[in-house]
Amino acid sequence: MHLLSALLALLPTPSPSPLPSTTSLSLTSTVPSPLATSTTIACNGHSELCTRAFSNITQIGAHDSAFVGPLPQDNQDVSVTDQLNAGIRFLQAQSHLDALGTLSLCHTTCIEEDAGSVESYLSTVKTWLDANPNEVLTILLVNGDNVNVSMFDTAYTSSGLKSYAYTPPSSPLTLDAWPTLQELITAGTRLVAFLDAGADASIPYILDEFTYFFETPYDTTDPTFPQCTIDRPPGATADGRMYIVNHFLDVSIGGIDVPDREALNTTNAATGTGSIGAQADLCIGLYGRAPVGVLVDFFDQGDVFAAQDALNGVS
Ligand SMILES: *[C@@H]1O[C@H](CO)[C@@H](O)[C@H](O)[C@H]1NC(C)=O
Ligand SMILES: *[C@@H]1O[C@H](CO)[C@@H](O)[C@H](O)[C@H]1NC(C)=O
Ligand SMILES: *[C@@H]1O[C@H](CO)[C@@H](O)[C@H](O)[C@H]1NC(C)=O
Repeated sequence: MHLLSALLALLPTPSPSPLPSTTSLSLTSTVPSPLATSTTIACNGHSELCTRAFSNITQIGAHDSAFVGPLPQDNQDVSVTDQLNAGIRFLQAQSHLDALGTLSLCHTTCIEEDAGSVESYLSTVKTWLDANPNEVLTILLVNGDNVNVSMFDTAYTSSGLKSYAYTPPSSPLTLDAWPTLQELITAGTRLVAFLDAGADASIPYILDEFTYFFETPYDTTDPTFPQCTIDRPPGATADGRMYIVNHFLDVSIGGIDVPDREALNTTNAATGTGSIGAQADLCIGLYGRAPVGVLVDFFDQGDVFAAQDALNGVS
């Protein structure tokens, strides 16, 4: 057992009925350490986030996190491990069946781009979580071929990542019933897993994305991101749902939409027209609270963590 985990295990368990985010418990922010006069325990890099509910924290998400490289259809510059090392705590990825029937991370089809099996991707994440005990991750997988959720369960199980998965005590959780980051860390359930289609009660830790979230439109080609409308689920209201903003810009090349790399330093800026902060402000104006996920391409360009910190009110 890690020393810090041992110390945390000695702390009083936070109340199982989540407290309003404004209630601050000092017990989780600093822990005396025999090795140092004072050690600040951070949750996802910020001690202030320890007492905040999962549903009250904004995370920049790596859109199409598995599609890494210089090709027009790629969405990220650096590997998933490097994404996590850089501070990304929300990974989105798209899956399809490859020609052999293996659940794989493929872009539209496995002929266009095949980034390997879902199992191998999840194993990479498992290795990273093992090495980073104070971090909570969110994974949102797209079930592109609408396969049975049991295939995702198999991949989560064989990768070992399932051992970290959070299962809500009742389903669906209301917005204010989500545990805090510290509660997730203390319980060892540091992975919150969502699937966009096909989730059901048979696999209770794979949560149905659209029960919990709505999303704004994707495939945006207007660099000003002038909207924050509810695109999916169709006809949904914001009531009771967290939400994900699709803040990645496409450009049409010969009729095919590909990520607009030229615009990244305005798209992924923290402030200014077309920035993450500007679109989030539009959303906050409409819904009275910040997005829980903001999906971006090429997160390493622009200033995405400054935008995240501003939305979370941390520095
Ligand atoms: C968290 O709660 C604060 C205070 O109500 C709010 O300003 C902020 O938008 C919330 N963030 C999210 C992601 O819900
Ligand atoms: C998924 O597969 C399981 C058995 O592996 C079966 O019980 C379940 O009904 C299937 N779900 C759907 C939606 O087909
Ligand atoms: C945008 O990126 C270019 C180089 O790619 C840089 O020279 C310029 O300063 C950047 N603009 C902003 C607003 O960051």
